[in-house]
Parts: sequence; C-alpha cells; structure tokens
Amino acid sequence: MMKNKSILIAGGCGFVGTNLAIYLKKELKNFTVYSVDNLKKTYSKFNLNILKKNKIMNYNIDISSKKFLEIKKKFTFVIDCSADPAVENSRKESSNVFNNNLKTTLNILEKSKKDKSNLIFISSSRIYPIDESNKKFRLKDKSYFDEKTNTDGIKTLYGFTKYASELLIKEYSYIFNIKYIINRSGIITGPLQFGKVEQGLISLWLWRHLKNLKLNYIGYGGNGYQIRDVLYVDDFSSLIKKQILTFSKINNQIFCIGGGKNNSLTLKQLTKKCQEITKNHPRIGSVQKTSKYDIPFFISSNKKIKKFYNWSPKTNIKIILKKNLEWLKKDNKKIKKFF
Ligand SMILES: NC(=O)c1ccc[n+]([C@@H]2O[C@H](COP(=O)([O-])OP(=O)(O)OC[C@H]3O[C@@H](n4cnc5c(N)ncnc54)[C@H](O)[C@@H]3O)[C@@H](O)[C@H]2O)c1
Repeated sequence: MMKNKSILIAGGCGFVGTNLAIYLKKELKNFTVYSVDNLKKTYSKFNLNILKKNKIMNYNIDISSKKFLEIKKKFTFVIDCSADPAVENSRKESSNVFNNNLKTTLNILEKSKKDKSNLIFISSSRIYPIDESNKKFRLKDKSYFDEKTNTDGIKTLYGFTKYASELLIKEYSYIFNIKYIINRSGIITGPLQFGKVEQGLISLWLWRHLKNLKLNYIGYGGNGYQIRDVLYVDDFSSLIKKQILTFSKINNQIFCIGGGKNNSLTLKQLTKKCQEITKNHPRIGSVQKTSKYDIPFFISSNKKIKKFYNWSPKTNIKIILKKNLEWLKKDNKKIKKFF
C-alpha cells in the first residue's frame, strides 16, 4: 500500500509518545509513523528499542536545536509529546523546562509553518492556576475543569511553559494558518511508566506497593485527600486517532480531557486499591506541609470532547491498575536499572 501521509511524534521515546506511536502505526495503516527524541531520559533509551522492534524510525535530535529544523522530510501531522513533564523539577531546573517545553514548541511551529503540517499538542491540566484547584476542592458539590475554567494565575513553571506553548500555537495559527488541536490532559498512565516519581502518581504508588516500599501522604493535612482523574494511555491514543481522522473538519480547538468523574479517586482510595491488587501494605507516612507546587483537585469535565468526538474513557481504574501491574511485574528486571 502506498503510504503518502506521515505522522511525526515529538518525544516519541517518552511514555506517552512510544505508546502512541505503536498504537497509531497499528491503527492507521496509510500513515507512516516517525519519532524525534533526544533520548536524554534513561527510560527513553529503553523505549527506543521498542520503537525499533516495531520498525518506527527515531530522529535522535534535540527538538530545540537548529538540527531539528534541518530535517528534510515533511510530515502531514506533528504530535507534540515532548517535554520535561515533572512539575516539581520545574522549579529546580527552570532553564531545562523552558528549553524542552517551550523552545521545542517554537521549533515545531517553525517546521510546521514551512511544511504546512497540522499540529496536535499535548498540554496539561497544570495550565490551570493553583488557586482554581483550591477553590474547586473547597466546594461541597465539586465542579469540574473545562475549557472555560479560568487560566489566569500562578500555575508552576511547568504549567507556565505548557500554557505559553498553547498561546504560541494560537499566535502561529493566526498569522501562518497552522491548524492545531490542543488537548489539556490530567494524569495519563499505563505500561512504560517505571514507577519513578516524575512519571506520576499511579505508577509510583503501584510500584512501591509491589515492592513494599514506604510512601508518604504529603500536604493538605497529610491524609491523602488529594483528588485526581486518571486516563489510560490507550484511551488517550484512541482519541488522537479520532482527531487525526477528522482533522479537516475539527481543528483549531482546545479540549480538556481526562479520566473524568468516573475515573477519579483520592490518594487514600488509590492506596486501598493498590493494597487489594498487590496484597501488600507498605507503611505510609504523613507529611503535613503542602508543596507550593501541589494542587488538591483535578477532574476533567470531558463534556466538550464527548460532544465533538463521541469519545469518553473506556478503561476503568480497576482495569488500569491491573494492566499496569502486569507490565510492572513482567518487566521487573529491566525496570530495576531505572532506580
Ligand atoms: N504523563 C502524564 O500524566 C501527562 C499528563 C498531562 C500531559 N502530559 C504531557 O504529555 C507529554 C508526554 O509526557 P510523558 O509523560 O510521556 O513524558 P516523558 O518524559 O515520558 O516523555 C517526554 C519525551 O520527550 C523527550 N524530550 C524532552 N525534551 C526534548 C528535546 N528538547 N528534544 C527531543 N526530545 C525531548 C524526552 O527524551 C522524553 O522521551 C508531555 O508534553 C507532557 O507535558 C503528560
């Protein structure tokens, strides 16, 4: 079959990028899937081997460098999954975060302008201000985050760079007619997360239960009352597939996506589920002090995304944890070297 359409996944050797690359290669037979990733993370090198096995080529290039702009190939779609995604790290490593989250977006836009590529950007729930989360947390009848929720306010340096990327995309779209979709996502989880702190809560909690290693409830009284929604990575990928296939009709839109109400839980509830599935009860300490970068609450409303694509998450928390556990157990030995 002649494949004249192509997809470049920026950050294709990351957790989201690799899962997405494999999914799209399988599902969209008339597209060729490529990755660009500078392999700075140890786990990206592990994921590169998975891409190789699936015959997906990676350009080993820093997207913020001139070399990226010199890639000759023109892509029909660029999906931007490249970033330094660790919120807490962003205060210590601010120049890295600017480079890997914002300069990368600028270069992706420059290349998309030249090649007339369409852009799908993976943004974050952290573009919403910390205060907005506090406000919603205090409400008895919790109201969820959507595309109209206020974005003005302090949001962490990570959140700032993601939001600045969104604004930059809109500016480039206005002037250079680049068509885009922005997906603001809450927690995404699934295989290829190695239980590292910076890879997110779900994988960390499950890994440490599996290994019976101590955990801490940090902040908001130290009781584990923070609430998050959780999206399984294949559900996320199924949405991106829909967005690619309908892109000519639906573009220049922002969507707030996530596990939603049905896939949300407190940290304490997550502990219970991890105990049930691993049969382990690691000690959980309590740290009173709240990090200046934490938020107590995020659940996506998913109303707009459901209306536009008839999409909603299919995989519930119980199955997500089961699938994650299978992966963590299966690749136990390989995972060890990431600690
Ligand atoms: N994982 C989540 O829960 C979650 C939630 C919301 C949004 N996101 C967003 O999804 C995207 C992917 O996150 P992830 O969890 O897969 O992170 P990840 O760290 O696993 O993957 C990011 C990849 O980008 C690559 N990268 C970073 N800077 C680069 C550069 N300058 N040049 C080339 N490659 C570079 C890294 O090497 C890595 O492989 C990010 O944009 C993140 O902000 C993730």
